[in-house]
Amino acid sequence: MKLLVTGGAGFIGSNFVERRLEVHPEDHIVVLDKLTYAGRRENLEGAASDRLEFVQGDIRDRTAVSAAITGCDAVINFAAESHVDRSIETPGEFIETDVFGTYVLLDAAREAGIRHLQISTDEVYGDFSGTEGSATESSPLDPSSPYSASKAGGDLLVGAFARTYGSDALIVRASNNYGARQHPEKLIPLCILNALAGDQLPVYGDGKQVRNWLNVQDFCAAIDVVLECGATGEAYNVGGPDELENIEVVKRIIELAGGDESRIDFIEDRPGHDLRYSLSSARLEALGWKAEIGFHEGIESTFAWYRDNPQWWEPIRSGEYRDYYLSHYGQELGAGSDR
Ligand code: NAD
Ligand code: TYD
Repeated sequence: MKLLVTGGAGFIGSNFVERRLEVHPEDHIVVLDKLTYAGRRENLEGAASDRLEFVQGDIRDRTAVSAAITGCDAVINFAAESHVDRSIETPGEFIETDVFGTYVLLDAAREAGIRHLQISTDEVYGDFSGTEGSATESSPLDPSSPYSASKAGGDLLVGAFARTYGSDALIVRASNNYGARQHPEKLIPLCILNALAGDQLPVYGDGKQVRNWLNVQDFCAAIDVVLECGATGEAYNVGGPDELENIEVVKRIIELAGGDESRIDFIEDRPGHDLRYSLSSARLEALGWKAEIGFHEGIESTFAWYRDNPQWWEPIRSGEYRDYYLSHYGQELGAGSDR
């Protein structure tokens, strides 16, 4: 196959491209990525370069999308503004990329007559703290943040294109991913890097919020299954094997770094913070997928990856992220380091 992978220079996209080219030696991939603060060309250095074409461009730009899609058999749309906290500060960018950009891609895929696989999130179902249960694909969409509302907007367009135009469009909705090359704005890499630097670890509210952690390699395997076997117009949940409170995750990272719990700073909670996400992956498991990497194994290898790859994160910590970090968390959290 020849795939158009948008957002392929980000965290999950780059892991997908690297794995896909390894597992499918006949495949070719075109990556279309704007290279925002979250995307880096270096993230694709480990991918088979003879079967990879990189195009810097914006999914909202129909001309760039039409050029990149030529000759492709399917589009996988990872491109998005992806951080909840930033969406609270600058919601407009999220609506532009996650809603309008998705529309542009759907329209181009419709014209080309090819499959569009939308990468979405458990956050579109909203808070599941009022129940012991898990979201299924028929649970109502009830997003809380500008990020999740924008992703839900993209998902609704996918359904509308499938029903109205007969587009071969479908969705995967994943729970919180973690692994190599995740931007340090997200909880796990942020805490690993702060722990390694001897800085404080910021925990929102009481830290009792629950997330369903999915190793990025398991998610990439799930995307392959849905691309190949998923039904047009459907959504497929991809949940991780472990539900953990944030405080449990943070304590485990401190343990791996050899610190103590005085490193934790409980800080002001995120507005509109969803207390629990939980996904049922039964529909996808019926297609043969199963998560293989438990959190306790996955967090050790993720911690080791960050510890062993400072050349990856040092430029990020001293760049745009430094300004974001200081304005979001304030000086005191970074006082002990070179941040
Ligand atoms: P990321 O922020 O690491 O990467 C996003 C990529 O998209 C970057 O390379 C960026 O340059 C690119 N991009 C942003 N706007 C663009 C635009 N207008 N045109 C072209 N490229 C653009 O995000 P991620 O964590 O890898 O997430 C990838 C996808 O998976 C997103 O759609 C996200 O909503 C979804 N998702 C993420 C998680 C998670 O835990 N990280 C969980 C579920 C779903
Ligand atoms: P995050 O990695 O931003 O993912 P999401 O908001 O998409 O779930 O956050 C994961 C959880 O960790 C979430 O409940 C918010 C919390 N969190 C903190 O407690 N402190 C932080 O500094 C960050 C970034 C997140």
